[in-house]
Amino acid sequence: MRPARVAVLASGSGSNLQALLDAAVGEAPFRITQVVVNRADAFARVRAERAGVAATLVDHTRFAGREPFEAAIDEVLRAAGIEWVCLAGFMRVLTPGFVERWRDRMLNVHPSLLPAFTGLHTHRRVLAAGLKITGCTVHVVRPALDDGPVVVQAAVPVVDGDDEASLAARVLTMEHRAYPLALRLLTSGAAVVDGERVRLTRPVASAPSGLLWPDGAGR
Ligand code: GRF
Repeated sequence: MRPARVAVLASGSGSNLQALLDAAVGEAPFRITQVVVNRADAFARVRAERAGVAATLVDHTRFAGREPFEAAIDEVLRAAGIEWVCLAGFMRVLTPGFVERWRDRMLNVHPSLLPAFTGLHTHRRVLAAGLKITGCTVHVVRPALDDGPVVVQAAVPVVDGDDEASLAARVLTMEHRAYPLALRLLTSGAAVVDGERVRLTRPVASAPSGLLWPDGAGR
């Protein structure tokens, strides 16, 4: 089967982009063929260029509003023949129109166990709440912020002495494992979006330890 053509949208460091680039080799059912950044200084752009992947800057400050900004992104995605979109630290809220155009074809990674702690400053709020466990979620994007069918979640312990930075780093390590797994499951057809659920279509041999997905099959 031809690998799926995937675009990654990023605003910052792009470590999740890097994890996807590193996984998109050999027998992987996907390739990262386009990166879009909305900030000229996003390190994600450098990572894409280093990997030989087209990186396009679509600077939101140059557009009159969200719609024309998103139309410009859409044009890049369509010209590149993109089939799946991965948001990876992309710090712009997308309009329902854009989200619907990519319905069931757009994923996001969020640094909490959704639906808990949507939005910003998740680690600060997890620490303030005194939680012992947090994690990350890869989900299919729906119009509401950080909402949509869960593909993969990973649990991460909160340990004594953690601050925002140490907790973020521990969660990020799991994001880097969860995101490639989620994209692999969907682009291979091993998982499908079925309404508001993601379900496995066949047994999945082994999940990396600590990673969970909704129906628990394949563990
Ligand atoms: C990640 O923690 C992601 O979950 C959040 O923003 C961060 C992006 O990190 N949405 P990076 O740019 O992938 O390094």
